[in-house]
Amino acid sequence: MLVRTAPLRALLAALIALLVLAAPAAAHERKLLLGTAVDVEALANDDRYRALLAREFDSVTAENVMKWYAVEPQRGVDEFEDADRLVRFARRHGQSVYGHTLVWHNQLPSWLTEGSFSKPELKRILRRHIFAVAGHFRGKVRAWDVVNEAIDDDGQWRDTIFYRAFGKRYVEMALRWARKADPHAKLFLNDYNIEGLNAKSDAYFALAKDLRRRGVPLDGIGIQGHLSLVYDFPGGVEENLRRFARLGLEPAFTEVDVRIPLPVSDDELAEQADWFGGLYDACRAVPPCKTFTVWGFTDRYSWVPSVFPGEGAATPFDEEYRPKPAWSAIHPPRSGT
Ligand code: G3I
Repeated sequence: MLVRTAPLRALLAALIALLVLAAPAAAHERKLLLGTAVDVEALANDDRYRALLAREFDSVTAENVMKWYAVEPQRGVDEFEDADRLVRFARRHGQSVYGHTLVWHNQLPSWLTEGSFSKPELKRILRRHIFAVAGHFRGKVRAWDVVNEAIDDDGQWRDTIFYRAFGKRYVEMALRWARKADPHAKLFLNDYNIEGLNAKSDAYFALAKDLRRRGVPLDGIGIQGHLSLVYDFPGGVEENLRRFARLGLEPAFTEVDVRIPLPVSDDELAEQADWFGGLYDACRAVPPCKTFTVWGFTDRYSWVPSVFPGEGAATPFDEEYRPKPAWSAIHPPRSGT
């Protein structure tokens, strides 16, 4: 279409300029899917917990009840009741479900850790597990942490029951089985201490690159985001997200919390908010990154104090469900960036 009059042309040019100028800012300020890990005991017993979860979050991750020890406590006996309850809650509240986790060296059933199995038998056990769990939740979860925490902090393969039996091939086996069991779920590898650029995230980058090159089904990289004010904020977070995005992967923050030495001060709460915001903004700046999940939203039920004595207050709401500064840092709408 030709625009014939000068004022109209000028108006059009101004409009285009406005759009061009506004576009990067809009991309940068896009809303992320906000998720949280869910403690199903609290979900069952605590009204305030339930109300806040229903109102504020777009996505839920089972904190424990989809793990192997919970879903197959006895060999061959599937137990999905707790996890199904969470999935139903999510469905009722228009939330999506992020599956956590199919293959992990922790929270395995004792029949598995204490048994002694030949390699072919362990392979059958692993295959059965992935088909049973991913099959049960087929169409109900949008993604799976297929393998959790496969690599050590120094970038070496973690010595696990699966690595000892199959070497690094177990990751590929698990991804291929998961794809067959639920073809529509996005498949992730998930780990901690891979927020920034370091030996461990380098190892994941090399692994992901190799898997993608060989056509192994892998859609995303789950970056847990368990941080502590005792250390420094990780360096190169946005650059790290970008390199995974360049491989065609979706980076996601999957378990964010920021521990503080107790008792907390206002300055520390402000710094904690900056750290939550730092991860959140890095995700917003890299378009394939769509989700930001916190590992519990209230200090009332956080896993932190029992594992890190003397640290705590790691989530965006305190024990009485009062929002902390961190909540404003990750809770859209936000002004400016
Ligand atoms: O179920 C038993 C219960 O029967 C018993 O009475 C109670 C007494 O301690 O323990 C209960 O088990 C606990 C389980 O959580 C369920 O509440 C375990 O002791 C406890 O160790 C376990 O902790 C979980 C931890 O993973 C295990 O490594 C945390 O809740 C959970 O938040 C944490 O989550 C992990 C992610 O899956 C992976 N990334 C790191 C993250 C934090 O560690």
